[in-house]
Amino acid sequence: MIADLQQLEKDALAELDSARTADAVQAVRTKYLGRKGLLTGLLRNIASVPPEEKPLFGKRCNEVKERLEAGIAAVQDRQAQAQKEDVLAREKIDVTLPGRGIRPGRVHPITQIRREICDVFAAFGFSVVEGPEVELDYYNFEALNIPKDHPARDMQDTFYISDNMVLRTHTSPVQVRIMEKVQPPVRILSPGRVYRPDSDVSHTPMFHQIEGLLVDRGVSFADLKGILSAFLKKVFGEDTVLRFRPSFFPFTEPSAEVDIRCVMCAGKGCRVCGQSGWLEILGSGMVDPAVFQNVGYDPEVYTGFAFGLGLERIAMLKYGISDIRLLFENDIRFLRQF
Ligand code: DAH
Repeated sequence: MIADLQQLEKDALAELDSARTADAVQAVRTKYLGRKGLLTGLLRNIASVPPEEKPLFGKRCNEVKERLEAGIAAVQDRQAQAQKEDVLAREKIDVTLPGRGIRPGRVHPITQIRREICDVFAAFGFSVVEGPEVELDYYNFEALNIPKDHPARDMQDTFYISDNMVLRTHTSPVQVRIMEKVQPPVRILSPGRVYRPDSDVSHTPMFHQIEGLLVDRGVSFADLKGILSAFLKKVFGEDTVLRFRPSFFPFTEPSAEVDIRCVMCAGKGCRVCGQSGWLEILGSGMVDPAVFQNVGYDPEVYTGFAFGLGLERIAMLKYGISDIRLLFENDIRFLRQF
């Protein structure tokens, strides 16, 4: 029996030695130490051991059992340790790898131009106000001296929401809304989106304008010219050459369009300026007395000037952008250039 016990220990240790996985180790344990295991079987057979050998046999059995337990525990420890190291090796982070880098966005060129213009006029004492994009026909047209069926409505093709409601075609209606609310002196600037059913390299159905209005006692065309000249030189450079050209708008009298000497060809004539050497930048004029009457200002007491300009056009000229649609495609490679 003792000899069987020695052989059993040898076999068990050999099997343990070649057990590579946790499952294999567990199998060895079950095979020898389990309830139906070989060592357990030997112990159960103690009855057949001669009485004088029983104490020694029992003691040996226990010693073998302890050694096997210890051996199994040691192998399990080693396996657990190896597994941990394996995980550590696989999950290692190489802190010397270059980082991915953050690619910051940019302020959209239209927003940049809007802020720049608002800043210039803030220095002249103008404050920024906003008006609705869905506008009553009254504010968009009637109050600005453009009655229904007036040919001037053809100047601005219009998205109609209903008979008396439109998507505003310009920011000029904000003039009227402000004058209805406050008494002169008025100095406001109103940036915002406007809409016209138009689409090609220089037109999009939605674009941005800024409207300006100054009303007080004794405001003259010289004030209009002085302020708009100072503004355009701030935005396009002190050397910019300007031209005030007579024009017509129903809500101003007299009216003038302001051109700058072409920034592309310096006046020689090119594709951008249509060979004229000049670029049209804004519309302006002295507020028509009829508009003052519509808002309850006395045209005998107050005079004023107004102007309106398109931000996309200014951005395109300033940055040399040839297709207005680029401004709305939101291609980050385009937008990052400004
Ligand atoms: N509202 C005009 C347009 O959209 C621009 C304009 C012209 C505004 C003359 C004005 C002005 O205030 O006086 O084409």
